[in-house]
Amino acid sequence: MIAAAGPTPSATQNVEHARAKINLSLTVLGRRPDGYHELESLVAFADLADALTLDLTRPPGVTSTGQFAHAIEGTNLVERVLDLAANACPGIAVGHVTINKVIPVAAGLGGGSTDAAAALRLLSAANPGVFGPKLLMDLALQLGSDVPVCLAACTAIMRGRGEQLTDIGSRPRLPAVLVNPGVAPPPGKTGAVFARWAARGGRGDAAAAVLDIHAIRSVSGIAAMMDVLAAHPNDLEPAARDLMPEIGEVLSAIAGDPAAALSRLSGAGPTCFALCHTPAAAEAMADRIRSRHPQWWVVATSLGP
Ligand code: C5P
Repeated sequence: MIAAAGPTPSATQNVEHARAKINLSLTVLGRRPDGYHELESLVAFADLADALTLDLTRPPGVTSTGQFAHAIEGTNLVERVLDLAANACPGIAVGHVTINKVIPVAAGLGGGSTDAAAALRLLSAANPGVFGPKLLMDLALQLGSDVPVCLAACTAIMRGRGEQLTDIGSRPRLPAVLVNPGVAPPPGKTGAVFARWAARGGRGDAAAAVLDIHAIRSVSGIAAMMDVLAAHPNDLEPAARDLMPEIGEVLSAIAGDPAAALSRLSGAGPTCFALCHTPAAAEAMADRIRSRHPQWWVVATSLGP
């Protein structure tokens, strides 16, 4: 896969952080002729992150370590990144990627997508002048609908299938608690949740009142951000609950906590999140949920820049 000749790599070893993705809102605007759904989602990134290390002195390959390494099934998306990039740009330096996997897999946190995006950033940095922004975006979208926003890794409104991004700038950091019930999601979970959304009569409305970019850009505090979000839930939540009923238990548990100012499902689930007014409130809430549900994965974190 790797050719001897090519651009001079910029370093032999580099590290990139792959932050967990949270859909603060998710509106389904309709089904497209290509089978994907037209979306609008306000996306933010958590401090919780996998770490990817690229070692250019080793042959191409991927190794996973960390809490959720065992949960990666089948071909790792990062292996696809190495193949796709080497095919698109013959002769580039590729190398070996080690992933320290702390984000749960198939959880609604974009774990595979954020790793793929970080791998693209690593290859781009290791091969200066090879990957322009357009090529990176093209490769990202071939890897999955969430990979473009993960490549940008900023708080953004995502539209289209996931490729139209509007950076909404430096918003307040949002203290949050992430909770995953630890159930095995159904195979092809995201597609299955969209299919269930349609089976429940979801049609979407492309003309529906959607996110007001100017209002979001002018939000100055956590409370104001929560007011904006209150009007824009996750449209996939009922469908995801049908397929993964444990989501209902998680949402009841976090919505019932006194520190939760807003509670919601991320993406197609099953991870849910609560937003809190302070980091200390998020930490205390995480301790309470953990002690009542020791089998759940519970993390206090912050979302945003
Ligand atoms: O793009 P990705 O491979 O992550 O999508 C997985 C599945 O989720 C797709 O095959 C499709 O069924 C569904 N999907 C969708 N509309 C989107 C994103 C994903 O219908 N915008």
